[in-house]
Amino acid sequence: MMGIVLYLGLYILVLIFLFIAIVYISSLFYSLLKGAPYVPTRTLLIRDILKRSGLKKGMRFLELGCGDGRVVSIAVSDFGATGKGIEINPMLVATARIRTWLNRVDGVELVREDVQHTELKGWNVIFLYLFPALIEKLQSRLLKECARGTVIISHGFRIPALESRLFDTRPGTPYKTYYYRI
Ligand SMILES: C[S@@+](CC[C@H](N)C(=O)[O-])C[C@H]1O[C@@H](n2cnc3c(N)ncnc32)[C@H](O)[C@@H]1O
Repeated sequence: MMGIVLYLGLYILVLIFLFIAIVYISSLFYSLLKGAPYVPTRTLLIRDILKRSGLKKGMRFLELGCGDGRVVSIAVSDFGATGKGIEINPMLVATARIRTWLNRVDGVELVREDVQHTELKGWNVIFLYLFPALIEKLQSRLLKECARGTVIISHGFRIPALESRLFDTRPGTPYKTYYYRI
């Protein structure tokens, strides 16, 4: 009898583990299909990446494809910005909300949305770490809709249409970070 209970318990645990693994892996594929896989920016780099952009207290900060919300959280908690994170993957939006709640970071708005529909007007600094194909779809809107002086930080990939606006490049392995001013 004890053996059957143990066996059943183990069986249920394996099923739960498989379920979580399948949800997690499908969620990664979902992000990839929508424009970029979930690969977080290394936490150790975030403060330096943001510092070079000139982000300051009271500025409005937008993150396109915010993953688990670590970048937008640091923009708010360490730089005093007002922050909004846009993310398409519902699992990551939930993770970002739990993360900001656990770290008691107030002032971060997290929205589930495709960045192709995000309002790009009215931000002082915009951060993105997206694949080139999605950057290509966004670049002309960044140029048209962002106000003069908006700083765009692109981690990992250049924004070809903004090449003449490039004002700084942060060296990095494996990825550089590119800074543009509209
Ligand atoms: C490379 S990760 C970067 C995550 C986060 N910005 C960071 O630096 O840690 C790209 C993120 O963009 C999200 N993403 C991909 N396509 C998107 C889309 N069309 N709209 C909104 N988010 C998207 C992915 O789900 C993923 O979380």
